[in-house]
Amino acid sequence: MSNKKTLKFPKNFLWGTSTSAYQIEGGIVNDWSEWEKSEGRIKKLPSVAKALAGKEVRSKKKKKKLIIEDFICGQACDSYNRYEEDIELVKNLNCGAYRFGIEWARIEPEEGKFDMKEIDHYRKVLKAAKDRNLKVVLTLWHWTNPIWLAEIGGWGNKKVVGYFARYTELIVKEMGDSVDYWVTLNEPMVHVANGYIAGKFPPNKKNIFKSNKVFNNLAEAHNKSYKIIHKQYPRAKASITALINYFEPARKWLLNEIIIAKLFHYFWNDRFLQRIKNNLDYIGVDYYFYDRIVWHPPFKKNKNKKITDLGWEIYPEGIYHVLKYLNKFKKPIIILENGLADECDKHRSDFIRDHLKYIHKAISEGVDVRGYFYWSLLDNFEWAEGFWPKFGLHSVDRKTFERTARPSAAVYAEICKNNQIVINT
Ligand code: FCB
Repeated sequence: MSNKKTLKFPKNFLWGTSTSAYQIEGGIVNDWSEWEKSEGRIKKLPSVAKALAGKEVRSKKKKKKLIIEDFICGQACDSYNRYEEDIELVKNLNCGAYRFGIEWARIEPEEGKFDMKEIDHYRKVLKAAKDRNLKVVLTLWHWTNPIWLAEIGGWGNKKVVGYFARYTELIVKEMGDSVDYWVTLNEPMVHVANGYIAGKFPPNKKNIFKSNKVFNNLAEAHNKSYKIIHKQYPRAKASITALINYFEPARKWLLNEIIIAKLFHYFWNDRFLQRIKNNLDYIGVDYYFYDRIVWHPPFKKNKNKKITDLGWEIYPEGIYHVLKYLNKFKKPIIILENGLADECDKHRSDFIRDHLKYIHKAISEGVDVRGYFYWSLLDNFEWAEGFWPKFGLHSVDRKTFERTARPSAAVYAEICKNNQIVINT
């Protein structure tokens, strides 16, 4: 027989959902939109190639034929025009906060030329959030770049640090009064790894030396941008979002596996944070991955008892370990992304509850976690994978853009309203 137990979250705990500009707005021209159309892309991406050949692209059991349009961002969710409706959805979830992004390529379509119409647009989005009493978490950069920047080498070119600083300065001046939490850079390590080591994201490089330059430029850009934000708003709260994985040696007694897990942890989780730790008011963390480490290539062997539509193992306990690790930085922590691709909404409610259970455990042991944001408000353009992975609390009709709440949206809304979860013990 199972008993029920209620776990209360701290007073003023921030409940939210997250999106990013490129993934939902539509109509953006940037390095990604150009890359999507490029010839080399189809061959390089296994999922695109598979889909085009009519092979399975989702979970092992489900087959779905996709067409090339499923991999082109295009109008995305049309949120550029539907932002009011989206913000209403956030409100209906009883969230107190919304994380969204602004698109650098819209604001500075040509080097040094800023489009004030776009600034006005984003001011309206901010106002829509503020009118509904939502706290705003604003992302300045979420992997996409203006074309002029990509053409001069993107984040591999040292000049990007100055350009990003100038862009930040403008945003701080024009919108800073409406921002509650800043995210300068989203998951910089993913840009380094997928853009410059694995070659999965534009600019599709596989060059370890270049990747190191990009790493340094990203770290420097954050540090500079942080100072700019604080110059105008000394009490601002700024961070990045760090994608932190839980790397666990498959055999806790096997030295090889312990060492490899530690190396992954250092290079993927720790190194970037170490470089910027003096310029963080809080830590924004994204948790999706548990990696069970073995000593032979490819070094990862998960048990995969439960997986998402993308094949990622569902491992809620991992978030507890991630939070315990982050505790050493002695900063407030906000989980700015956590979610899963689950078109049928089979696992989502449990997924959220189970992760929250482990977050609660970390809090009860003294980790200063201030908020939780589910990724994502809507089904959206999941980067190289296109539109087929469905992360949303709301589905989006690809033709009419109509939003429909999945059953888990009501579950999440209840959690946010009551500031608690009820679990079986
Ligand atoms: C994160 C990204 C976000 C989304 C989720 C699924 O790494 O920041 O844009 O794609 O993964």
